[in-house]
Amino acid sequence: MREAVRPVSREEILRQEDIIRQIRLRPDRPQSYCIITYGCQMNAHDSEKLAGILEEMGMRPESDRQKADLILFNTCCIRDNAERRAMGNIIFTKEIRREKPHLLVGVCGCMAQQKGFQDRLKDRYPFVDFSFGPGEIYRLPERLLYAMEGHREEAFKSGEDSTLYEGLPVLRRDPFFAYLTVMYGCDNFCSYCVVPMVRGRERSRAMAQILSEAEDLVKGGVQEIMLLGQNVNSYDGGEPGADFARLLHELGKTGIRRLRFMTSNPKDLLDGLILEMARNPAVCPHLHLPAQSGSDRMLSAMNRRYTRETYLDRVRALRSAMPHIGLTTDLIVAFPGESEQDFGDTLSLVEEVRFDSAFTFIYSPRTGTKAAGLPDRVPPETAKDRITRLIAKQEDITRSVFASLIGTADHVLAEGVSRRDGGQLTGKTGRSLACNFPGPPELIGQIVPVRITGQGSNTLKAERIERKPE
Ligand code: 5AD
Ligand code: SF4
Repeated sequence: MREAVRPVSREEILRQEDIIRQIRLRPDRPQSYCIITYGCQMNAHDSEKLAGILEEMGMRPESDRQKADLILFNTCCIRDNAERRAMGNIIFTKEIRREKPHLLVGVCGCMAQQKGFQDRLKDRYPFVDFSFGPGEIYRLPERLLYAMEGHREEAFKSGEDSTLYEGLPVLRRDPFFAYLTVMYGCDNFCSYCVVPMVRGRERSRAMAQILSEAEDLVKGGVQEIMLLGQNVNSYDGGEPGADFARLLHELGKTGIRRLRFMTSNPKDLLDGLILEMARNPAVCPHLHLPAQSGSDRMLSAMNRRYTRETYLDRVRALRSAMPHIGLTTDLIVAFPGESEQDFGDTLSLVEEVRFDSAFTFIYSPRTGTKAAGLPDRVPPETAKDRITRLIAKQEDITRSVFASLIGTADHVLAEGVSRRDGGQLTGKTGRSLACNFPGPPELIGQIVPVRITGQGSNTLKAERIERKPE
C-alpha cells in the first residue's frame, strides 16, 4: 500500500527561507563550501540543489576541501564499498579540523536516512556538526543554523523520507545539460536493495510542474535533459493518462533537442512507451535497462518480477521499434544461492543481448533488506572470479559493438575539452557513448554531427561532418 506523500507546507518553506536570510547576514557564517558527492545521478542532482541553497546564503564553492569552511558529504549506501569510502573521508575531516577549528562538517544523502545512523554520528563523531536525509534537503538551512549555534540534538534530528518539495534553487553544472527529477522514491522492494528504505515511497511530481521547468531550461539554452527517477516507467502524474509516455510526448513539444531518462524497470516497460520513444525525435536512441541477472531463479529471489524471457522480449520490442538503439544494463553477481549455472545464465544473457556496456556489481548485503537474511552466501573468491569473467566478456562485446559503429554518422553534444588532448572535444553520442573528436572549444554546448572513425579504450573516435545524413 502507498504511504501518504507529505507535501512540504508553505509555512515550513517560509521558515527555511527566513533562516537562509538570517545566515546570510551573520559574519560568522561559512564563506565557502565543498560538497563531496557519492552514488547515482539522483545524488548528483541533489548536490546541485544543496549548492543552490548554500549560494543563496552567500557562500562560494571551493573545490579543495582542505580550504573550505563547510564540507558537506552527500553519501550513498547502495553497497558496502560506497559507505566505506564515504566514512573514511568523513573521518579524515577530524584532521582538517585540527588546522581549522571553525570548519563545519555535514553529512547528508542516503547513509543519513538509514535507521540509527544519525544518532551514531551525533554520539560517536564529534567532528561532524549536522546531518539530514535525502527527503529533507530543504531543511539544510535549519540544520546548519543549529550547528552554528551549537544545538547538537536539533542539528541531527532524523526525520521524514516521503516529502515532496518544489521550488528549491538549483545550481547547475553546465548551461547546456540539466537533470530534471520526475519522481522520488521507489516501491519495488527488490530484495537486495536499500533504496526504498532510504528514499521513501514512490511519489511523482505533477506533469505541469515538470513541463514548466523544462520550458524554462529550454529557454535558458539547455540542449539535453536527463529525466531522473528510481523507476521512471511507473511515473504517474496524478491525472488520468499522465503516464511516462505522455510526459515524454509533452516534453517533446518544449523544443528540447535531447531527452534521456533513468532508470527503467523492465517489468514496467510497456509497448506504449516504446512507441513514444521511437516516434519522439528528442528521445535519444539509448536505454539503460537493468537486468541484474540472466537466471530466472535469481530474478525470482531478487523479487524483480520479470523473467529472462520477458526481459529478452522487451529487448526485441525495443530493437524492432528502434533498430539503432544502444542498450546498457546493471548486473549483480554472487547473489545468495547463485550457482555456476545461474551465473552462466547471466553470461549467456550478456552474449544474447550484446549490451553497449554494463555496470557490474558483486552482491553486497544491506541491513533491512530481505536478501540480507538469505542463506547460501557465495564465497568472496568465487564472487571475484565471476565478476572478472563477466567484465571480460562484456569488454569483448563493447569492443565489437564499437567496431560495428565505425563509418556511421551520429551527433555528439560537445561537453568539454578532452583531458588527454587539448585539440579534442569530448561528449556523448545519441546512443550515450563517450566520443572524442577534433574541434575548437567554441563548439562546447552544441550538438555536432560526426562520423565515427575508430575506437579508444571505452570511447569512440570521430571527425566532424557537415550534416548527419538521414
Ligand atoms: N549489492 C550489489 N549491487 C546492488 N545494486 C543495488 N543494490 C545492490 C546490492 N545490495 C546495484 C543494482 C542496481 C545498481 C544501481 O546497483 O545493479 O541497479
Ligand atoms: Fe542513489 Fe541509491 Fe546510492 Fe541513494 S543509495 S545515492 S538512491 S544509488
